Amino acid sequence: MTDNHKTELGVMHADLRRYDSGDVTNRELIKRRASHLAGSVLFYDNPVWIVRGEGPWLYDHDDHRYLDCYNNVPSVGHCNPRVVNAIAEQSALLNTHTRYLHETIIEYAEALAGTFPDPLDMCYFVCTGTEANELAMRIARSVTGQRGAIVMEGSYHGNSTLISELSTMTYSRKDTPGHVAAVEPPNLYRGSSSDPASYVDAVDDAIAQLEQSGEGVAAYLCDAMFDSQGGLEAPGNYFTACYEKVRAAGGLCIADEVQPGFGRTGKMWGFENYDVVPDIVTLGKPMGNGHPVAGVVTTRDIADRFAAATPFYFNTFGGNPVAAAAGLAVLRELEANKLPAAALHTGRYLRRGLARLADRFESIGNVHGLGLYQALDLVTDRETREPATSLAKQIPDLMREQGVLIGLSGRYGNVLKIRPPLVFGQEHADILLDALNQVFSTVTTSV
Ligand SMILES: Cc1ncc(COP(=O)(O)O)c(C=O)c1O
Repeated sequence: MTDNHKTELGVMHADLRRYDSGDVTNRELIKRRASHLAGSVLFYDNPVWIVRGEGPWLYDHDDHRYLDCYNNVPSVGHCNPRVVNAIAEQSALLNTHTRYLHETIIEYAEALAGTFPDPLDMCYFVCTGTEANELAMRIARSVTGQRGAIVMEGSYHGNSTLISELSTMTYSRKDTPGHVAAVEPPNLYRGSSSDPASYVDAVDDAIAQLEQSGEGVAAYLCDAMFDSQGGLEAPGNYFTACYEKVRAAGGLCIADEVQPGFGRTGKMWGFENYDVVPDIVTLGKPMGNGHPVAGVVTTRDIADRFAAATPFYFNTFGGNPVAAAAGLAVLRELEANKLPAAALHTGRYLRRGLARLADRFESIGNVHGLGLYQALDLVTDRETREPATSLAKQIPDLMREQGVLIGLSGRYGNVLKIRPPLVFGQEHADILLDALNQVFSTVTTSV
């Protein structure tokens, strides 16, 4: 970074400090926001006004700090210096697109492809997870000649027209389009069955439904971490069995790694927890640590077949030199600090602490998740497993008052979602566990 850049970043911080004077209040800002910002909902009854971040910490305009146990995008840490410098330096030098030769773009594609098992070695760069899934579906439809998709109930894959239709959490079941078959996610604690095989059988039914309706199966699209279903661990051979069935029906298997990818589950890719290799992988969120970088990775054979059918595919901003520099810096940071392994290690430590809380507080019915995505399924009664939706709704606000940010998930909104940046050590897990202990002690009874 040049001195000029340093000064400019310094000026930006100085500008933010003007809010510390109390010139503008939270209330005023909420009012101004509501006047002109469409379609964006604030977190917390008492929303936080964040002005800067560092590592796993966020700071509000009064310089109160919050431990971020929610945000998966800044996975190598808020304002990670390696990523900030890479973006600043490349922005100052050149920012065009992928249709000129540029070494950083190629270096990034090589490095990214190098993190995948064979035969996944061809990269497309786009700007959002939605676009990645949209392109993946376009490829799957083109290559298979079929149109249907199998997705999970309660899924979220993005916000475009097609991908909204594949995001079953965004509409009611009766509005499911004919080209979509939604199957129940394999939740052995809360689902309709405690038998893993029944969730695989549901994929047989979905295939039959799509074949009967003439849509056929273009793809099975699944997030291996089941983020919008509360962060589940798939049982036994769930994924290998589903992949086999989908391929036998002529479909492709798409792993949506927008949430689990880049080390969150303790492995670089979520699917690596399950001994499968997808046909297409979609990427986003942590890929640029906040810079809009997303992608699709597939095999040369599939990429060639798509190119033959669709010779003109272009994305103006996807994989431009600044995006590539940001993405490369994220990969280097993950590697240098062994963050996937750290996520596994800290995730296990956190899981043990959460299990101790579950021993203590009756309302914690189940603890589940992988790596640094851990979740608490809250119940009103451990026998009936009735979801404790209204209790769960209070907890993130109470945690926010303790200076710890967490979220909610799951079909009934009763699952506390803990998904911090990966630069989250045992010392941070201890702060989180203490705050949870404090909050549960005030709102629930001990076992
Ligand atoms: C699993 C999954 N896939 C795709 C997306 C869409 O990504 P984006 O918001 O970048 O379009 C999301 C966003 O939350 C997601 O959780």
